[in-house]
Amino acid sequence: MERAGSFLSWLAAVVVGLAGCSPGAGPPPAPVRPAAPAPVAPPWEGPASGQVREFQLTVGRVPWEIAPGTGVEAYAYNGRVPGPELRVTEGDIVRVTVTNALDEPTTVHWHGVEVPVAIDGVPQLSQEPIPPGGVFTYEFVAVPAGTRWYHAHFNERVQQGGGLVGALIIEPRQAPAPPPDREYVLVTGEWGAVGAGHSATASAEPRGMGGRMRQRASRASVERFTINGVAYPHTPPLIVREGERVRLRLINAGATETQAFALAGHRLTLTHSDGNPLAQPVEAEAVFLGVGERADVEFVANRPGRWQLRGLQPGHAERGLAVDVVYEGHEADPVQLPPPGVRPVRYRDLVGPPGDGGPTRTYALTLSGGMMHPDVWTINGRSYPDTVPLTVRAGERVRLRLFNMSMEDHPMHLHGHTFRVVAIGGRPVQGPLKDTLTVRHMEEYEVEFVANNPGVWLFHCHNLLHLHGGLATEVRYQ
Ligand code: C2O
Ligand code: CU
Repeated sequence: MERAGSFLSWLAAVVVGLAGCSPGAGPPPAPVRPAAPAPVAPPWEGPASGQVREFQLTVGRVPWEIAPGTGVEAYAYNGRVPGPELRVTEGDIVRVTVTNALDEPTTVHWHGVEVPVAIDGVPQLSQEPIPPGGVFTYEFVAVPAGTRWYHAHFNERVQQGGGLVGALIIEPRQAPAPPPDREYVLVTGEWGAVGAGHSATASAEPRGMGGRMRQRASRASVERFTINGVAYPHTPPLIVREGERVRLRLINAGATETQAFALAGHRLTLTHSDGNPLAQPVEAEAVFLGVGERADVEFVANRPGRWQLRGLQPGHAERGLAVDVVYEGHEADPVQLPPPGVRPVRYRDLVGPPGDGGPTRTYALTLSGGMMHPDVWTINGRSYPDTVPLTVRAGERVRLRLFNMSMEDHPMHLHGHTFRVVAIGGRPVQGPLKDTLTVRHMEEYEVEFVANNPGVWLFHCHNLLHLHGGLATEVRYQ
């Protein structure tokens, strides 16, 4: 986001918001306002273990081969796409020193982590961008446990879309079940025009010229998909041994497209959605992930051979979105594909932990756009930064009713909080805890979150074209 705004004004808003809900402070609330909710502790208070984990990330450009002879001029953390996996334990103090070796500013956003707002990585809204040559140290308590990720949040379509993404795995301090025998983390990527050698690419262009025209041109131009930076069939296979229980952490770190995956020859068990445990794991022929979403799945390696984990959306696997699961000793077996017609599990099949209580405040948000003006996307008829901010007070339980009137998927992501899916199509559900929810054409969902992390936060579509087209708003604490 490149919106002009003032660091001081949000800071003032936070301070006022905090003062307003401290016990005994200020005048009694006016009758039209809801009663002052009980103060709640911010998410990072309590779980800190005192253990400090330090990491260094250098942000730069690198020629990157997504397949032999096929290169892109990528943006990269520590010279790799995706960036290094950061793996910590819940409650650790994570200290990440970021050095900006680009010739433009950058920031890092910790997607799915409940961080203090000052390091949330949204330029002008939560932090000042790190200038070229600058160094900034992010420090936060690793909470909540689960499959999280990190990515650039400046000039997103170019930087995040150009490779500034990585996995952040927060292991639970006390694992509820024995860990699987083997685990793979799979970070997907999407690339625009790719070429022989290392020519410039659509997803890694300099910013600031003819933005809208180019966005339109790039709309349907995903040329290649990658898993951990490599396009199939060059993706290194996932080696397993017969009898093992294997976990895959799937992260859709692409720019625009909803993905779906099935593993030939095996049923998947979906255990976590966006890194948050389901109340009951769900058997799945396939799972789907909008941009920004994560799915943790497990399978038992009980059918020796070579089996493809395949992107099911039309054209995805053909453009590189696949990887083979290969049993030791079966490297030379022919690869088997999932049968046609496998169906991903739906949100309505997922059960989360029990909820508690109803909303103190509800906002109805209609998501639209992409019709009259293909690059303009709206919430209740307005594009960011002209969308109406969602005002909340600390301690409230806030419900958002999301309805998608447009033709495209909107993976809606809330910064700094975890929400619960509480209704689908108007019917109450005990849905999963998530931070990104993909609302498809004519679907309606209600989600609820506890306002426990004061600040000004972005709530936006994670399709980077839609984000740049204005499908965003702010959650502002009073
Ligand atoms: Cu994953 Cu606003 O971001
Ligand atoms: Cu969208």
